[in-house]
Amino acid sequence: MNLSSPTAHIRIDQLTFDYGGERPAVDSLSFDIAKGEFIGLLGPSGCGKSTTLRMFAGLLAPTSGQIIIGGQDIVSRPPWERNLGLVFQSYALFPHMTVAQNVAFGLRLRKTGKDETASRVADALRAVRLEGFGNRRPAELSGGQQQRVAIARAIVIEPEILLLDEPLSNLDARLRDEMRFEIRDIQTRTGITTLFVTHDQQEALTMCDRIAVMNGGKLEQIGTPVEVYDQAATPFVANFIGRANSVPATLTHVAGTPQLSHHGRPLPAPRAEDLPHGSLDGARLSALIRPHAIRLSKPDGGLTARVVRNVFVGSLIEVELQLGDNQTLVAELRPGSDEAQLAQPGAEVALSWRPTDMRIFAA
Ligand SMILES: Nc1ncnc2c1ncn2[C@@H]1O[C@H](COP(=O)(O)OP(=O)(O)OP(=O)(O)O)[C@@H](O)[C@H]1O
Ligand SMILES: [Mg+2]
Repeated sequence: MNLSSPTAHIRIDQLTFDYGGERPAVDSLSFDIAKGEFIGLLGPSGCGKSTTLRMFAGLLAPTSGQIIIGGQDIVSRPPWERNLGLVFQSYALFPHMTVAQNVAFGLRLRKTGKDETASRVADALRAVRLEGFGNRRPAELSGGQQQRVAIARAIVIEPEILLLDEPLSNLDARLRDEMRFEIRDIQTRTGITTLFVTHDQQEALTMCDRIAVMNGGKLEQIGTPVEVYDQAATPFVANFIGRANSVPATLTHVAGTPQLSHHGRPLPAPRAEDLPHGSLDGARLSALIRPHAIRLSKPDGGLTARVVRNVFVGSLIEVELQLGDNQTLVAELRPGSDEAQLAQPGAEVALSWRPTDMRIFAA
């Protein structure tokens, strides 16, 4: 994984924070962010996302490591000397102030003149599509509008970096979908380098230029949404981003060609380059396959499974399959397809997939 790039705007280097628990909350995190990039920090609850963001914001001093912005390590700078815009899960608007006063708050702290403040507040409200809302109070706004005021308040100071910590998690599902596009749109128009924390893979996949997947304080992988989905670097990433079936498999070579088998039944042939480095015959591996990549056909001597049940979910049918050793898999089929016809509960079916649809890891 090449983490360095000559055009890096921000370089996070071995960033570590230890609250004094069993292991550091953030553990030697390193990656680069280019100017104008929208980076997602994605991972399960407790993996260290907010802690990472708080170190950026200057609310926590790293135990070790550096945050280098424009060539300078900023970790010893106080929060107010970092040019950052912050938006948290709770919008934390001042209830007694109008929308315009809320947005103007950071400019007042910076002693910006009255006319300039007025014009920048108007610009920021326009950017979040809230022109004309300046005189309202937060209580007179919907949740989505309040969140947009919080974003306007963060971008009005023209920050070098925008930090967003789960900004959509308090909104209902529909508003969340709308706000995803709005936030991405605002970011694209303003070009502000953005670090967006979420535990929602869908949010990360749909909004981000690149996603940094964290687990237990460590970076598992950083890549574009397509990269982390199609070329998961670890089983954790494959399981956290989308669904993945895991088939235990044993490696053998026949006339120099690698083959995988599950309890004596052959799996689709792996490509040699997809095998973990240095895998020897007899190695216990784990083959990961996305539900939509599994093909069903009549039993033919290859890997077979028994259909447990199928569930119609509208655009597709989810089929639960059981391998000989009780391992279950899920396949997604198109309703009305020949495969869907085969997927009758109790039926024995052959499973296959394209070699390129299989990721192989050491078990
Ligand atoms: N103030 C604190 N004191 C001690 N431990 C803390 C403190 N804040 C967080 N932690 C621990 O540090 C780890 C990382 O927490 P953090 O808040 O960064 O996680 P997160 O990825 O943002 O999770 P979530 O998705 O739930 O917001 C967790 O194990 C958490 O319990
Ligand atoms: Mg958090």
